[in-house]
Amino acid sequence: MGRRRTLQVLGLIALSITLAACAADAPQDSLNPAGPYAEKIDALFKPVFWVAAGVFVLVEGGIVYLLWKYRHRRGREGVPPQIHGNTRLEIAWTILPAVILAGVAVPTVATIFDLASVPEGNVLNVTVRGHQWWWEFRYTDPDMQVGDGVPLTTASVLTIPTDRPVYVTLEAVDGKIGDAAVIHSFWVPRLAGKQDAIPGRENHMTLQADEPGEYPGQCAELCGLSHGYMRFKVVALEPAEFDAWAAGQKQDHVEPTTGLPASGFEVFSQTCIACHTVRGAAPGGVAAPDLTHFASRDCFAGCVFDTTPEQVAAWLRDPPAEKPGSFMPDYNLSEEQIDALVAYLETLQ
Ligand code: CUA
Repeated sequence: MGRRRTLQVLGLIALSITLAACAADAPQDSLNPAGPYAEKIDALFKPVFWVAAGVFVLVEGGIVYLLWKYRHRRGREGVPPQIHGNTRLEIAWTILPAVILAGVAVPTVATIFDLASVPEGNVLNVTVRGHQWWWEFRYTDPDMQVGDGVPLTTASVLTIPTDRPVYVTLEAVDGKIGDAAVIHSFWVPRLAGKQDAIPGRENHMTLQADEPGEYPGQCAELCGLSHGYMRFKVVALEPAEFDAWAAGQKQDHVEPTTGLPASGFEVFSQTCIACHTVRGAAPGGVAAPDLTHFASRDCFAGCVFDTTPEQVAAWLRDPPAEKPGSFMPDYNLSEEQIDALVAYLETLQ
């Protein structure tokens, strides 16, 4: 292949890699903010990006120009004239970057403090806890409790009202109830920046959505085998719809007395209840997601699976085969038990 041909091929490869970065449908696009907190980050990122792009073009352009101008040619075999230093230039290229950096630092520091401030007014407080490998959401406000000091608790789907700041307290499990004490990172690119969830420590962040909709997020810190399967979604509802949702979620489960769901509840009470809670049934464990309104959420187990009967059945057949490292073991349930469990879980609306 000639030199020209090689250059053409390399150019085409570079072009296709660049174009592959363009996507019309990118639900986790931090450049497409959907709330005031993400917009503050975007408003800082864009000008800083263009300043950096300008510096890049100047510096790299200068390098390429000099490479070209002083390239080896016939008749230039000797060493070019050697120059030592230029005081004025050196002072200029010390001061100029310092001025640019100071100019970038002022809005950066202001934005950091702005984002870190505790929101005031009509705030929704949620404690987000990172488990291996799913997210738990606890609504800690007094009007969101389901018993004396017991917060409404869900998993994998965080439902929030629009136009209202959500003050998130981030935690991670400490390794005492099964999964290891590891650091996770909570990230909903269209609603806020990312923040670590650290065992034994509380971190805070605020997110807010302008419009109703679904905003996917995921764990952004390598946290073990199924890190890539530690997704979740934020569902934003109009305030009235959110209130209706919350009222429904506060209801206890209704124990099924007949048919397949009743048999499913029996299996649940003998097996699943060791780790899962269904409010209103016998006291359940807290190592695994609260399933009280399992079927009202459209995904589970780190939002990797849909709560359809087929996918729930596949999960129950062998969780670690569906999601590597899953702490939910394979209970060797029979197909009859699985059918019954699925029927029961589907009643948990
Ligand atoms: Cu949790 Cu990665």
